[in-house]
Amino acid sequence: MGRVQIFVRTHGPGPGPNLGPMGTHGDPYLNVYVTLHCYALDCASHFLFSPMGTDTLNNPDDMVLIQELTYNNNLKQRWLEHYAPTLSALMFNIKGRYAAISKDYILKQSQQTTPSKATLISRWQSRSDTLQNIQMAAECMDHMSAGIDTTGDGLCFLMHELSLPRSQHVQHRLREEFIQNPNAWLDMLPYLDAVIKEGLRLFPPIPMSLPRCVPAGGRLISGYNIPGGSVVSCQAFSMHRLDESLFPDPKKYNPERWIEEKGLVERNRMFFSFAAGGRGCIGRHLATIEMKIVLEEIYSKFTTSVALEMDGDMFINDQIIASRPKDQTCLIKFTLY
Ligand code: HEM
Repeated sequence: MGRVQIFVRTHGPGPGPNLGPMGTHGDPYLNVYVTLHCYALDCASHFLFSPMGTDTLNNPDDMVLIQELTYNNNLKQRWLEHYAPTLSALMFNIKGRYAAISKDYILKQSQQTTPSKATLISRWQSRSDTLQNIQMAAECMDHMSAGIDTTGDGLCFLMHELSLPRSQHVQHRLREEFIQNPNAWLDMLPYLDAVIKEGLRLFPPIPMSLPRCVPAGGRLISGYNIPGGSVVSCQAFSMHRLDESLFPDPKKYNPERWIEEKGLVERNRMFFSFAAGGRGCIGRHLATIEMKIVLEEIYSKFTTSVALEMDGDMFINDQIIASRPKDQTCLIKFTLY
């Protein structure tokens, strides 16, 4: 059964592998913070190692990976390890190493001998004359880390927003688009695209500054002469909000702004959730299609609302290089159409 079908079955009424506790009114609800991260891990690990990717939505044994990767403060820890190695070594001696299970998992999977041809590890292995095993494993670790919290958190913020009473009309318009275009490629659906883009605009999973070093000789940037060696940066959070002529009412979730023709070229140029240029996100297309597939499966069959039991804080919590919902909990109720 496909990953998305499992996800949807998991959320639907009736027996399912991870069906959450019942709501106070007998309606099933689920902590989508967990399941969306599971979905992102399963997608990323299959892109890397298929057929040996994880199966967290079906196999509770794989859940340990997601617990380790998303519930620890691993981004802060990695940052500390890089910038303050002595302090971090001391801390890990006290608290134990982080990401130990996922490192073992990656090392094991990157040595498998029969990966599917479409996987990243297969591509790396075909260049094994120039790459050592540990280098291939390190590349895969980068992709897995880069592809879980970003997609999982982005989807979680978005589903929470869509499930609020103020966004019910967005769900209905999405469903209309699916009904009217039953055989269309998901990339041909402009409203679906707008819903996702607006989610990533308002809740960019990497909202903070992305530093870049100005090359030798300096550069003219926006009319300013910046000397070589200076560090400059842009950040999605500000780029998506500051120019109110492009983004009127910037704190409002409003997918229609991505349909409006006037200013669209400029708005797209300001869209910075995946960064831009040579070091921009190389998982952008994978992440986008993952998001489109899961939204189509959910919102063509269900409406969602925030469960009455939801008391988690969805505030964007700073993880230094990324962000996530503060309480790492998002209880969503699913109702069949
Ligand atoms: C909504 C989901 C995602 C968002 C918002 C996102 C965002 C970003 C951003 C902003 C960067 C640039 C970081 C910097 O300049 O310091 C980046 C880089 C990167 N992303 Fe993503 N990403 C997402 C999903 C993914 C996925 C699914 C993968 C792979 C499975 C991935 C793999 C990478 C890699 C490998 C880099 C480093 C590229 C390089 O340095 O050349 N990302 N991402």
